[in-house]
Amino acid sequence: MKRIAVIAGDGVGKEVVPEGIKVLQATGSQLDFEAFPWGSEFYERTGRMMPEDALDTLQRYDAIYLGACGWPTVPDHVSLWGLLLPIRKSFEQYVNLRPVRCLPGIAGPLSNRGPQDVDMVFVRENTEGEYSGTGGRVHVGHPQELAVEVPVFTRHAIERCARFAFERARERRRRLVSVTKSNASRYAYVLWDEVVAGLGQAEYPDVAVERVHVDAMAARMVTRPESIDVVVASNLFADILTDLGAALQGSLGLAASANLNPERRHPSLFEPVHGSAPDIAGQGKANPIGAIWSGALLLRHLGEEANAARIEAAIDRVTAEGEFLTGELGGRAGTAEVGDAIAREVRRE
Ligand code: IPM
Ligand code: MN
Repeated sequence: MKRIAVIAGDGVGKEVVPEGIKVLQATGSQLDFEAFPWGSEFYERTGRMMPEDALDTLQRYDAIYLGACGWPTVPDHVSLWGLLLPIRKSFEQYVNLRPVRCLPGIAGPLSNRGPQDVDMVFVRENTEGEYSGTGGRVHVGHPQELAVEVPVFTRHAIERCARFAFERARERRRRLVSVTKSNASRYAYVLWDEVVAGLGQAEYPDVAVERVHVDAMAARMVTRPESIDVVVASNLFADILTDLGAALQGSLGLAASANLNPERRHPSLFEPVHGSAPDIAGQGKANPIGAIWSGALLLRHLGEEANAARIEAAIDRVTAEGEFLTGELGGRAGTAEVGDAIAREVRRE
């Protein structure tokens, strides 16, 4: 029995997480879910997003399943730095793995492009870079106020993330795109480029590495998505590019992610890429597919490849068939109807 800590969190997180659990249970995998009521409402009651000993508590679980973190009543930098970001950093979840794949039956914004063209895997550095949290503000509120936010890049963190990406490239088309901005940046992305190139030459000579600047990459994802397979990029760049990826898939509601500690010293965290979506929260119309797909990534990480693949195949069948789609995809189904349809397909196999 694997123990899963569930943090549904805020907004539509509370609506999509039950659908993910429903589908995970439909696989028959031996999972024991325990819910933690943390998030912005918890903050309003206690002044904290999660208890002081939350990380010790979570450490005892095999994985963490998260819905969304953030709500208009709490400043975003407070909610994120009180829950999601400390978990990613303290648990050394140094890879944020994000599949970007068009699903059958869903027309993305690119004409004549479908699952055969858009099938990428993003490996996002998830512990440092532009999200290092290093910096400060002085002269607060005065005209001379100054804020510094320092991106931090270490050889150690770049290399472990790149290694993970090279391994994924070996399982796929042996092509890796490394995204930086080492023309305008003089230090950090130059180091990144050197580390990736060095690792490639020394240990992965069978993988073709392409170095692409982030601005050019944004365009290429739209104009030549079929030329992209595995991508490795910094925290900020991959954050932005994976939202573009979600748009290429047809909806942010479809995008899944895994925050991985590949060494398994700490639990990994699985969450849809979309946030709490206050504009549609509480209405039962959020798309649960991103959360359900993240559940498949959770099973894969726990070694249950067959059941992970069953969930992914069930999602594909439901989107291909087209009867149970949420509103933003042009359908009329509610959150729970989509979850039910996918759970039915999982059981059918
Ligand atoms: C994501 C989100 C987070 C991130 C925010 C909410 C801090 O945008 O998971 O992509 O940028 O990591
Ligand atoms: Mn993001």
